[in-house]
Amino acid sequence: MAKEETKMEKIISLCKRRGFVFQGSEIYGGLAGTWDYGPYGVTLKNNITSLWWNRFVDTRDDMYGVDAAILMHQNVWKASGHVGGFSDPLVTDVKTNKRFRADHLLEEMGVDPKGMTLEQMNAVFKEKKIKSPDGNDVSDVKQFNMMFKTNVGALQDDSSISYLRPETAQGLFVNFKNIIDTFHPKLPFGLAQIGKAFRNEIAPRDFIFRVRELEQMEIEYFVKPEDYKKTFDKFLQEQKDFLINDLGLDASHIHEVEIPDADRAHYSKRSVDHEFDFPFGQKELLGLAYRTDFDLKQHTEHSGTDLSYYDEETKERFIPHCIEPTFGVGRLMLAVLSDAYTEDIIDGETRVYLKLSPKVAPVKVAVFPLLKNKPMLIEKAQEVYKMLKKDIKGVAFDDNGNIGKRYRRQDEIGTPYCVTIDFDTVEKDAGVTVRNRDTGKQERVKIEELTSYLKI
Ligand code: GAP
Repeated sequence: MAKEETKMEKIISLCKRRGFVFQGSEIYGGLAGTWDYGPYGVTLKNNITSLWWNRFVDTRDDMYGVDAAILMHQNVWKASGHVGGFSDPLVTDVKTNKRFRADHLLEEMGVDPKGMTLEQMNAVFKEKKIKSPDGNDVSDVKQFNMMFKTNVGALQDDSSISYLRPETAQGLFVNFKNIIDTFHPKLPFGLAQIGKAFRNEIAPRDFIFRVRELEQMEIEYFVKPEDYKKTFDKFLQEQKDFLINDLGLDASHIHEVEIPDADRAHYSKRSVDHEFDFPFGQKELLGLAYRTDFDLKQHTEHSGTDLSYYDEETKERFIPHCIEPTFGVGRLMLAVLSDAYTEDIIDGETRVYLKLSPKVAPVKVAVFPLLKNKPMLIEKAQEVYKMLKKDIKGVAFDDNGNIGKRYRRQDEIGTPYCVTIDFDTVEKDAGVTVRNRDTGKQERVKIEELTSYLKI
């Protein structure tokens, strides 16, 4: 008997079938940890990033958008601590030379690796005689630096080394002075950016959850040290509001997790993650960290440029403290897809649909002529399509296959409404039918009332 597909396998296959996400470099057998977004995937992703930018930048007076270069001076990464410490614990299968995340192997053996030192991990590997997933002995646990190294320019020596940024955050810290000098903001204020980051993950896995080329949306928000707590709490709430109100995630699938001292990144004095119930378990979705004055101090020291702030009111000069809300775009998209993926029975048949919030759905409304070969239906449908396009972003025209097939296709990509132009529309001026994705029910609506009916 064929093995039943897991929910995750179903999501991956829908994403490929419907043009959301494809394996990176697929025709060459793929490149592990990379994924390419197709037309619906890129629109869904853009909808997520636009909602984020709108909430956290455009509608606020205290945020400054930045788009920094991915390649940065190597000293940025020395100052930030990434050259010395951006690593994951790794073991090597001594027979096959394959490498595995030591903490993941421990977890699979029922051991919680949180807060363990390398020595402690090594001790557990020896005591429990843990083997590689291929059943062979493994090496000692070592640290593996996850930055992708490259050289800038024709000279390939130590002085030309650069890295593909492993976080977008540093592009914000190095622009702190530029923003102060050009915009003269008063504390508190933040710098925000959306962009790619790269991590040479030892074991990329779970589709777009753990990848080597990822996209982040990050804010570095600068405050007076005494204002840390209230700002931290506000952002915690804002993050949750974004997940629930903007992306439409189910609140009961979101968990706030305080990160213990031993597991926090080196720069953080306090971290709280929002974890999510993915199909493969409860895992980190996004984070909030209190980075104190760590980064600005480090960059002041390493660059020799003063990154302090002068407070005109108190006449004091000091290095502001920083709160960092950070979001992984791929993980948000996977959470959205996972919550939206639904199966039900309609007319005795199993149907698959994405119950996406209209705010994120790549197509908000699809317009159909009932039949493809009737010019009067096509003409009217085109007219309605063009009318809706004026006010609504994400309107599609679909005359391919029979109406049932079109509904299935739109259901699978999560289109909330399908509008059909039939003979009554044209001959009796009876309006159009609007079908609701979630209920499958249809209603007649007058064309002049259609845009406001769709309320998008
Ligand atoms: N600037 C802080 C920072 O980068 P992080 O916890 O390492 O913190 C932030 O990463 C977010 O980026 C995570 O919460 C997650 O959403 C996303 N992320 C990190 N590594 C990832 C990976 N390998 N694949 C996909 N998303 C990742």
